[in-house]
Amino acid sequence: MEALMRIEGVSVHFPVRKGLLQRQVAAVRAVENVTLELRKGEALGLVGESGCGKTTLARTVLRLVEPTEGAIWFDGQNITDLKGKGLAPYRRRVAAIFQDPFSSLNPRMTSGQILTEVLKVHKYPGDVTARVQELLSLCGLAPRFADLFPHEMSGGQRQRVGIARALALDPEIIVCDEAVSALDVSIQAQIINLLEELRTKFGLTYLFIGHDLSVVRHLCDRVAVMYLGRVMETADSEEIFANPRHPYTRALIDAIPTPDPEGERGREHVALGGEIPSPLNPPSGCVFHTRCPLAMERCRQEVPVLERLTRDHAAACFALDAEA
Ligand SMILES: Nc1ncnc2c1ncn2[C@@H]1O[C@H](COP(=O)(O)OP(=O)(O)O)[C@@H](O)[C@H]1O
Ligand SMILES: [Mg+2]
Repeated sequence: MEALMRIEGVSVHFPVRKGLLQRQVAAVRAVENVTLELRKGEALGLVGESGCGKTTLARTVLRLVEPTEGAIWFDGQNITDLKGKGLAPYRRRVAAIFQDPFSSLNPRMTSGQILTEVLKVHKYPGDVTARVQELLSLCGLAPRFADLFPHEMSGGQRQRVGIARALALDPEIIVCDEAVSALDVSIQAQIINLLEELRTKFGLTYLFIGHDLSVVRHLCDRVAVMYLGRVMETADSEEIFANPRHPYTRALIDAIPTPDPEGERGREHVALGGEIPSPLNPPSGCVFHTRCPLAMERCRQEVPVLERLTRDHAAACFALDAEA
């Protein structure tokens, strides 16, 4: 599969300023030298504990945050320096769905008005009213939902409006940042099914961010695991669950509760000791070494790069050499 988007060596550092002169005294290293490909038609899952930089990376891809270093390529074009009008085609082709539709949907507008606004801003060439009805129906909402305000709907229905808004301009990529994380499990399943259905119907490509690995496993073809701003491992979904190679990925997978209490008892947990270090002052060498059960001296000194293990599996870890 060809790459539709390429994130190339992207770092995002947020300056921390102090004092009267607002001098920069430090930086939050939210994303550090991330390289990732999003292939046409795939769903790529991005996982990792809270604070590891997933949302920042998503917002960088959406051109809502400027990368400190690196570039984003989309369909052969470097979109990192596009500005104003130059960005409009990109904004049509890459859409987003966020976690909390309550904060991303205007509370004073009905769903019909919300959808109409997006279509008008981007000068939708067809019949706007018909398109609004079509979008609602595509997302499993009856026509009467056009007249409802966000607070008159359930969480699942609001997220359907969020999806309808993302779909409005026929995008190629949808970035889903914790799109189902706030919903009840049964509603989550319905929204995941809808996302799957839409993906098949329109050949969409997803960058799907979630901290719930079981949800990601269900929806995504490939998974990238992030820790403290860096990508630690990437592989096919099946492969990463069957054969996780990075100690951090293993710990994440071990932490998924199993529905079977008997099995749960017999399972060996590789507990992750301690807290995630602060991105203000990340550990030297491999950022995971302070919590890693396999850490060696080398891990404190050198930064491991993502190394290809098989055709579609890569991990950044020195312990893998020792293992091989
Ligand atoms: N605008 C910002 N200014 C300063 N720090 C930020 C900003 N946005 C995010 N951060 C910090 O960057 C790190 C990564 O955050 P985020 O991308 O939201 O992680 P995630 O989505 O994985 O939970 C966190 O330490 C967060 O506090
Ligand atoms: Mg986030």
